[in-house]
Amino acid sequence: MIIEQKQNLSFDELDELVRPAPEVVEFEEVAHRMVSRRGFLSGGAAVGASAFVMGSTTLAAGNALAAAETAESRLAFSMVKANTLDTVTVPEGYKWEVVASWGDPLFSNAPAFDPMTGGTGASQELAFGDHNDGMAFFAKDGKQIMAINNEYTNEKTLHANRADGMPINADDVRKNKAAHGVSIIEVDQRGGKWGIVQDSPYNRRITADTEMDITGPARGHKWMQTSADPKGVVAKGTWNNCGNGQTPWGTYLTCEENFNGYFSASDANYTMSDDFKRYGVSTKGRYDWALGDERFDLVKEPNEPNRFGYVVEIDPLDPTSRPKKRTALGRFKHENAELAIAGNGHVVVYLGDDERGEFLYRFVSKHKYLAGGNNRDLLEEGTLYVAKFHDNNRGEWLALTPKTTGMTEAEIAIHTRMAASKVGATTMDRPEWVASHPHKVEVYCALTNNKNRGVKPNAGGDETPAVGPNPRVKNDFGQIVRWMPMNEDHTSAEFKWDLFVLAGNPAVYTDANAGSKNINQDNMFNSPDGLKFDSKGLLWIQTDGNYSNQGGFEGQGNNQMLVGDPETGEIRRFLVGPKECEITGLAWNTNKTTMFISVQHPGEKGNSHWPQGGQAVPRSSVIAISREDGAVIG
Ligand code: FEO
Ligand code: CA
Ligand code: CA
Repeated sequence: MIIEQKQNLSFDELDELVRPAPEVVEFEEVAHRMVSRRGFLSGGAAVGASAFVMGSTTLAAGNALAAAETAESRLAFSMVKANTLDTVTVPEGYKWEVVASWGDPLFSNAPAFDPMTGGTGASQELAFGDHNDGMAFFAKDGKQIMAINNEYTNEKTLHANRADGMPINADDVRKNKAAHGVSIIEVDQRGGKWGIVQDSPYNRRITADTEMDITGPARGHKWMQTSADPKGVVAKGTWNNCGNGQTPWGTYLTCEENFNGYFSASDANYTMSDDFKRYGVSTKGRYDWALGDERFDLVKEPNEPNRFGYVVEIDPLDPTSRPKKRTALGRFKHENAELAIAGNGHVVVYLGDDERGEFLYRFVSKHKYLAGGNNRDLLEEGTLYVAKFHDNNRGEWLALTPKTTGMTEAEIAIHTRMAASKVGATTMDRPEWVASHPHKVEVYCALTNNKNRGVKPNAGGDETPAVGPNPRVKNDFGQIVRWMPMNEDHTSAEFKWDLFVLAGNPAVYTDANAGSKNINQDNMFNSPDGLKFDSKGLLWIQTDGNYSNQGGFEGQGNNQMLVGDPETGEIRRFLVGPKECEITGLAWNTNKTTMFISVQHPGEKGNSHWPQGGQAVPRSSVIAISREDGAVIG
């Protein structure tokens, strides 16, 4: 019973349950003062909020927004209205189709998807994983290959062979582990429809059991050593792969997010260390993988959790290659990995840690990118920085080094959160995807929401006052922050920042929860999560938020995808997903006539039959969106 309740929890709720943050904090007063001073609560709240957003920074998007009302919009489609339908809605002149769904076999010798049982461990190892999320598109020798994250699972459909949807034996655990990880598939259009090319030599599943090399500062450290890997150099698997990244040298980056929820302890008296507490490891995980694999039992394999929470680099164009865990990019609940090549040639990777009050990071490679050169190990060595935002729309990157933290390089790589706390980083409202502008040195990050903002500190005890880019107490709606590195240099130590949007609901609220000036009753949304720029410099915004349509969320419909124009601040809704899903992940084919996105966990509470309809089980799926006239879409 306890386990069943636990599995109904989201990762987010599980963290709330196990996190050790103290409850008693008097931030509300401080936050109230800050907000008042900013003008949120004086002289017309909604106006006040937008005055703050557009603020005293150089971008002056507020003025641009006004200008846009007379100029022609770059968002050339008619806005989709919010809805709660159990289908995908796109603008007139656009169409969508399913490319791949959970359980689709990648090989002709694998059994067809079985909705009655959800398949077996063996069938799932040969099939498309569950809960598809971040993705990237690759082309080689006329072949089109996609790498797609499979973040976690819908137990009720995956374990439909069990009355209560719970894994009860080792094969159930094998199936659950195989539904996680990454699916690499060749795709093409046959009869005008996108689909998986079965038996392609590129087709490959990377799961929670795939061997991969540990590289970077944590390689071989005593905290990485286990009985199966006494040297601490080879990890088994990757899971909870959320957002992604793509490198100019042709590899895929998959990001391990809520890695903690898979461990448990067989001894009720197990004493949790402070560092495990900081990462939300608990004696009762959301999944009971220890049921089929002892390394998930903290009592038997106490270092196993230290080997997860990294960014993993995969070469999808070489099916025999071993994935590499890039520990230099730090260990936390990685959302995505947005890569930019700085003017001076260093590789910069922006990284968010998606947990309430955790931090935003930047990695700068030690060595430089050389077009056409050997760049394959650039992510192995470098310096990690964490963001500190000042209230005057300025900010700085604080280096995490032995000198600044008193920790060794390996310790910084493994206990990155503690290192960032030591240097006084800014606690953020759950940093999700980061997106770097393709034509400007300007970077955006979705801060999805944070009900603890101004209420209690993060799990490390760092305060969370409602100031700077996180200005709202008990932030329900989220915002998108952007920063402009000084001297247009991604490796610069300083930046300017402002907020591109404060999401909100102007139909319900007149205070700061109404959102910023570029939010109205037609385009409103909550909880921005996925972010990606297209080739024209338009920002695609995907949501993973509250779809209850009740209270403060009334009228906001299902989760959705919108497009924002960074120049004008204009935001227009492009797509609404089916019931109880999130919209995430984004990639284009080479000629940009097709956009691929993830529809993840439709019917997560049991109320969807998407995509098949009727009484079919809901299935997470990648969809392809294109224009009916075949023109470019991004
Ligand atoms: Fe998997 Fe933070 O979203
Ligand atoms: Ca996400
Ligand atoms: Ca999310």
